Amino acid sequence: MKLYKANILFTPEPNKLEIIPNGYIAVLNSGLIKGIYKEKPEEYEWREVIDFGDKLLIPAFNDLHVHAPQYRNMGLALDLELLPWLNTYTFPEERKFADYQYAIKIYRRFVHELWMQGTMRSSVFATIHPEATRRLADIFVQAGMGSYIGLVGMNRNSPDFLCNSTKDVIDGTRMLKKYLEERGNDDLVKPIITPRFVPSCSDEMLKALGDLAAETGLPVQSHLSENRSEIDWVKQLEPDSTCYGDAYNRYGLFGQTPTLMAHCCYTDGEELELMKRNGVYVVHCPMSNSNLSSGMAPIRKFLNEGINVALGTDVSAGHNMSMLRVIQYAIQVSKLHYAQTHGEMQFLSLSEAFYLATKAGGSFFGKVGSFEPGYEFDALVVDDSYLNYDNYTLEQRLERYIYLGDDRDIKRRFCRGKELVEPVY
Ligand code: GUN
Ligand code: FE
Repeated sequence: MKLYKANILFTPEPNKLEIIPNGYIAVLNSGLIKGIYKEKPEEYEWREVIDFGDKLLIPAFNDLHVHAPQYRNMGLALDLELLPWLNTYTFPEERKFADYQYAIKIYRRFVHELWMQGTMRSSVFATIHPEATRRLADIFVQAGMGSYIGLVGMNRNSPDFLCNSTKDVIDGTRMLKKYLEERGNDDLVKPIITPRFVPSCSDEMLKALGDLAAETGLPVQSHLSENRSEIDWVKQLEPDSTCYGDAYNRYGLFGQTPTLMAHCCYTDGEELELMKRNGVYVVHCPMSNSNLSSGMAPIRKFLNEGINVALGTDVSAGHNMSMLRVIQYAIQVSKLHYAQTHGEMQFLSLSEAFYLATKAGGSFFGKVGSFEPGYEFDALVVDDSYLNYDNYTLEQRLERYIYLGDDRDIKRRFCRGKELVEPVY
């Protein structure tokens, strides 16, 4: 067991920021939190304390939607909308991952940056290439960070160089599952079924992936209702579907196993009801939605309806890997939405946005993202002393860290109780 002492902040509920100044947190050898205390508990009186002094101790971040092979395009090529952006910039970059040596180079940088930014859990799109995708999984296992890794399925409306077959994606996903089970990594790194989006997957591929989900119980991730042209295209491609979400649902890819749907900028009516009924997660990517002029997802409405909402960077449509920046964008975009709806849709509070990046996203991985007993200890130690020259309150310090801080302020990182050192290659 380990006993840590610091200024502890976390959000057990969206609008409840729990603050324990100079508090204690006991972490079992299993990596689970035993308890959290205002004073040193009597039963641990003789225990050594690992004291982080005046630093902040917060839950680590969870990025529920990110494209590892787009890492090199980050901060570039944001002058187009989604569909031409994919064809012009994104597909040609993803093509390069046929070369697994190239993949290793980029994927190491990508995982290193997740570590730097304090993102201890992620749900990642790889590419159609099984060898490169297996290497990405290896790099995560070595780093000790949790991740769902998706071998991408694409077999229509995509360049030949970036198409696989239904058999390729099914066999590849099965092999990745078997490989990770045999390699053994305490289930921190796992596969996720990943049809890119409806326009790039035939009905046959969607059906086979849905059957695979039903057989294996593996979770699912994809894109949904991101951009108006995309939605119109899906209507033409899938005339029998009652909405975009139904094109996934009819094949068992919409909450039949745990499911992440990125964007949902235009999700409403039947699609919203279906997401709610099936417990599908909305992964809100406000940085991406701003960059590709996609739209403003109605997050307040989703929250009011009790829909699960998490946050994602969506690199490289999002231009930054920092979940701090995503929290900030989520609040700012919600304020634009508030103005646009004449105040009908209340904007997100700091506490709510922090909750989305920690406990809400963490729930996809189990008991992750909070400091309650039984939760996995995923945590960051933050030194904000250079921002705290005027004795701000702990709540103000968190606010300033979110708006003004960055990865350099993170001094220690823990995933499931284990301290993770910087990956070196
Ligand atoms: N829809 C299908 N593929 C992609 C992608 O790579 N990024 C984003 N933002 N949307 C997509
Ligand atoms: Fe995406």
